[in-house]
Amino acid sequence: MKHIVYVSQATKAFSTDELAKLLEHSRDHNLDDEITGLLVYRYNDDYERGNFLQVLEGSQEALDDVWNRISNDPKHHTIIVLEEGAQDARMFGDWSMGFRNVDENDLAKFPGFSELGSDEFWQNANKKALPNALTTLRSFYDGL
Ligand SMILES: Cc1cc2nc3c(=O)[nH]c(=O)nc-3n(C[C@H](O)[C@H](O)[C@H](O)COP(=O)(O)O)c2cc1C
Repeated sequence: MKHIVYVSQATKAFSTDELAKLLEHSRDHNLDDEITGLLVYRYNDDYERGNFLQVLEGSQEALDDVWNRISNDPKHHTIIVLEEGAQDARMFGDWSMGFRNVDENDLAKFPGFSELGSDEFWQNANKKALPNALTTLRSFYDGL
């Protein structure tokens, strides 16, 4: 079992309907491919920027396939892989794609991620200077 965690910037602010559509499509695909994971979206008002944080887990083959589609999707850009690795069991197994639309209050207690979407956040993401993203994602997952 493999996983990949990345952050990206939405090409434009996503409405609730657009997020729901993206999620429905992703869940359909992921069920077929036995991919599980969690998608976090935050619209950062200060920087007028939509931001994604996502973890995907599954077989290497399934991940390669979905990653090929996601990384070429014009709905987002500035895609930075934060973590990749192998694990024995699924960490996000309850959801073909869990989802949280978060705000600054939801993020406040997560060092490094509290400013998700700010210029400083993106500089740190580029430098690989963010703390463990899986801890933040697991915490949101546990709250679903
Ligand atoms: C932030 C983000 C997350 C996505 N997550 C998934 C996903 O988990 N699974 C998936 O199949 N597609 C996901 N997509 C959509 C793919 O990038 C792509 O648009 C879609 O799979 C294309 O499907 P189609 O070939 O059936 O049109 C995501 C897109 C974005 C922008």
